[in-house]
Amino acid sequence: MMKFQGNHILSVSQFDREAISRILAISAQMTPYAMRQKRCHVLDGAILNNLFFEASTRTRVSFGTAFNLLGGFVRETVGQENTSLSKGESLFDTAQVISGYSDVIAMRHPKMHAVSEFAKGSTVPVINGGDGANEHPTQALLDLFTIQSEMTRFNKGIDKLNITLMGDLKHGRTVHSLSKLLSLYNDVKITMISPKALQMPDNVISTLTNAGHEVIVTDEMEGNLACDIIYQTRIQQERFASKDEAELYRGHFSLNKEAYKQYCQDHTVIMHPLPRDSRPEANELDIDLNDLDNLAIFRQAQNGVLVRMALFALTLGVEDKLLQHEKTITWHTNKTK
Ligand code: NCD
Repeated sequence: MMKFQGNHILSVSQFDREAISRILAISAQMTPYAMRQKRCHVLDGAILNNLFFEASTRTRVSFGTAFNLLGGFVRETVGQENTSLSKGESLFDTAQVISGYSDVIAMRHPKMHAVSEFAKGSTVPVINGGDGANEHPTQALLDLFTIQSEMTRFNKGIDKLNITLMGDLKHGRTVHSLSKLLSLYNDVKITMISPKALQMPDNVISTLTNAGHEVIVTDEMEGNLACDIIYQTRIQQERFASKDEAELYRGHFSLNKEAYKQYCQDHTVIMHPLPRDSRPEANELDIDLNDLDNLAIFRQAQNGVLVRMALFALTLGVEDKLLQHEKTITWHTNKTK
């Protein structure tokens, strides 16, 4: 059985199906705390250092919120320019120092494999919050949690899933990590819709095909959306040589209600790691989809808190102590039950 306690979480390749089931089960146990039905201060006094060297809203804030919800303290550093990395300090040295101030570290960095490099210098667990175009393991886990919970409405599971990934599949780290996780399940059909220049890297496709899954690679949206899940993504402008180059690919696969009605099935669930690019030239998911029950994007973002709480509990070895540290909520809350 995979050991979480004291270990880094750097890549989805670390996980087998058993480890994933464990993470997803503990994530579900976090619901009453996230929904403010109860408090759990099992991490009272622990310190998370959130180091975000690239733009982030959801990942950064939900890591912090997840840690706070378990009773821990959060310190945050945003932007390399505000740190000694801009004075020439190595990631190893920064890790040696910051890990001395922390119980756990969450980190995002624009360079592939930089979080692993940092982890080599850290004496405490490091969780990868996205390393360039490489991986985003916690997003993939929350995506899987979302797929599982959305599919229960239709009596379906992750095995035999028919999923369409759409957009910038070359640079999108979330679709890289998610595809690798899906390769662990059975009989998944994955359709990959992207402009030809932004296709999914070969190694990700071969991970899926070697595991016996059906992969369809196409640049056509029409005829390829009659699936269980559409996973839309953003053109990753920051990974292109220039803004103009990214511009060439914006808006190719805009999805709105009309296209949804025309091409999707009644039960097709729409996901997106967010942020959706809502500028008119991109309009990845039109706001006219907002009243669609099957638009899961905000439930998906909310699930990020549950999954990150579970990962902190596992990494710090308190996953079996939650009930002992429960308290009642004393304030008014508008959260739905
Ligand atoms: C994604 C990321 O940073 O890779 N966002 C996120 O963490 N939810 C996707 C993106 O920025 O397009």
